[in-house]
Amino acid sequence: MCGIVGYVGSRPADPFLIQGLNKLEYRGYDSAGICQLNHEFYVCKTKGRVSDLERALKHTPLKGCIGIAHTRWATHGIPSDENAHPHFDCHQNIAVVHNGIIENYRQLRSMLINEGHIFQSDTDTEVISHLVETYYQGDLLEAVCRAIQELKGSYALAILAKDQPNQLIAVKQDNPLIVGLGQGENYLASDIPAIIDHTAEMLILNDGEVVRLSKEKVELFDRSGEQITKKPVSIQWDPVQVQKGGFEDFMLKEIHEQPQAIQDTIAGRINERGELDLDREIPPHLFEGVSKVQFVACGTAYHAALYGKHLFETLMDIPVEAELASEYRYKRNLADDKTLLIAVSQSGETADTLGAMRLAKAKGARTLAITNVLGSTISREVDAVLYSHAGPEIAVASTKAYTTQLACLCLLIAHFCRLKTGENLAALLLALRGLPDKMSQTIKENAAALKAYGEKIRSASDTFFIGRGIDYASAMEGQLKLKEISYIHGEALAGGELKHGTLALIVEDVPVVALLTQPELADKMVNNLKEVKARGGYVLLLTTDQESDFSDVGDQVLRLPEIHPLLAPLLTVVPTQLLAYYTAKARGCDVDKPRNLAKSITVE
Ligand code: G6P
Repeated sequence: MCGIVGYVGSRPADPFLIQGLNKLEYRGYDSAGICQLNHEFYVCKTKGRVSDLERALKHTPLKGCIGIAHTRWATHGIPSDENAHPHFDCHQNIAVVHNGIIENYRQLRSMLINEGHIFQSDTDTEVISHLVETYYQGDLLEAVCRAIQELKGSYALAILAKDQPNQLIAVKQDNPLIVGLGQGENYLASDIPAIIDHTAEMLILNDGEVVRLSKEKVELFDRSGEQITKKPVSIQWDPVQVQKGGFEDFMLKEIHEQPQAIQDTIAGRINERGELDLDREIPPHLFEGVSKVQFVACGTAYHAALYGKHLFETLMDIPVEAELASEYRYKRNLADDKTLLIAVSQSGETADTLGAMRLAKAKGARTLAITNVLGSTISREVDAVLYSHAGPEIAVASTKAYTTQLACLCLLIAHFCRLKTGENLAALLLALRGLPDKMSQTIKENAAALKAYGEKIRSASDTFFIGRGIDYASAMEGQLKLKEISYIHGEALAGGELKHGTLALIVEDVPVVALLTQPELADKMVNNLKEVKARGGYVLLLTTDQESDFSDVGDQVLRLPEIHPLLAPLLTVVPTQLLAYYTAKARGCDVDKPRNLAKSITVE
């Protein structure tokens, strides 16, 4: 899991490469490196972040109008200067940056060492530069095509040869790679935001495609070196969306963008009468004969899958499973041709989710994806895609991607329900249309209280999030947010489970965040909170109940706007995101780039 960029043109390469790395840093920030070509390779690599690389570059300015660069999330080899990319062959003639994992690198490395190659790093990537060296006789494309025949695993690559001053070769296999088409210059990057400031015309590469970029043209080939053609796409993202727009951090900006993001998700899909039109995106035949639904996802997207399961179970008479994608392939699996597999993935690139989806597909299941990224691998391989239209999400901790996934799940259940039973879930859909205003109100009315609460709990070592029914899934997402960016341990519990162990940890002043939105579970939840209060827990209660007096069970009660109970998770998550944000800020954490994490995990 790393980010790669490349440039070839007539201007110095480093401004684009460094700007691209900064945009891709969410993909990893253990080390960074850059290589430019101008008769010689000019190289700068350093452990740490792109800002460290920029500092180092002040002492070693680079030359060249062609270059490649990399920001790393370490898998093979510790974060260090030596393991930072690019990696070279024995004679510093070939430079390689790589995102992915070469699974057979051990065999290749010992084979190459036996042949006399000398390695400088512990990475899997370095075998690629030595392999290309082995085959290189003046035709870089041919050498790369021969080298990749020997690779097993996943790789997005950008490769330069010292004696090819106007040529950059790139390859995509199981990791994303985008080519940006400019005027007299061309760009390469792991994702669209890294390029969108420079051009909207892009080629989204498919697996097995190899591309040769020069400043004048971009040529596409298959793995064997046969030339192929493909139409560029015009990306409609607004480059301004990829900036912080006056907010201190991307995460805060993205939390505030949620009302607009939900509007974009439902735009053109629900009309003012609460009628839904998804037939073009999800052909009705996809649901014919479906007798079972399986969701697969990871991280925050898994919490969205739990919400999806709740919706399907509540509104349809059909068995539903929500599986962690990382577990799905390693257990007995009952997917068959009557199964609808729904992969939820912001990036559409998560290796575990992709692997789970492919397995279900191989077993005959119909496949559908809810994803945010146009042209992502998952979106290209499934039978149908529902794009969440959250716009670019840059902060590692997912916020607007999550709420738009939940909105997509509402659209999906309504579509499914109408096709299966003829029933229109108009009340739910109309309530979804009204959600953006309620989200804005929630942020406006509660941000100050959440900031104060975040400051109060900044020194806590444990926190507990509790909820019942669908509020339990929201509690899981709330605790994940707090944990991942503030590094305070958090645990989520179904309210009724407290007494089976965790109550032992509830002592004086332990922070407990409670969610209470489901009227039929309110009394039971209040009982659970009484158990907490009796042990001295400090309760922040988030509720959509406007009337009940909760003063005996909540030290702070935040009343969120009244909402359709099935939409409550789209509202309650917002204060938990703000709480995580303010707590992390109070502790001085880097909220957009939490330690050890990355936005999109393209390795198993
Ligand atoms: C990483 C991210 C999470 C995300 C998960 C799944 O762990 O840090 O925010 O939820 O991957 O990513 P996906 O792109 O599949 O939704």
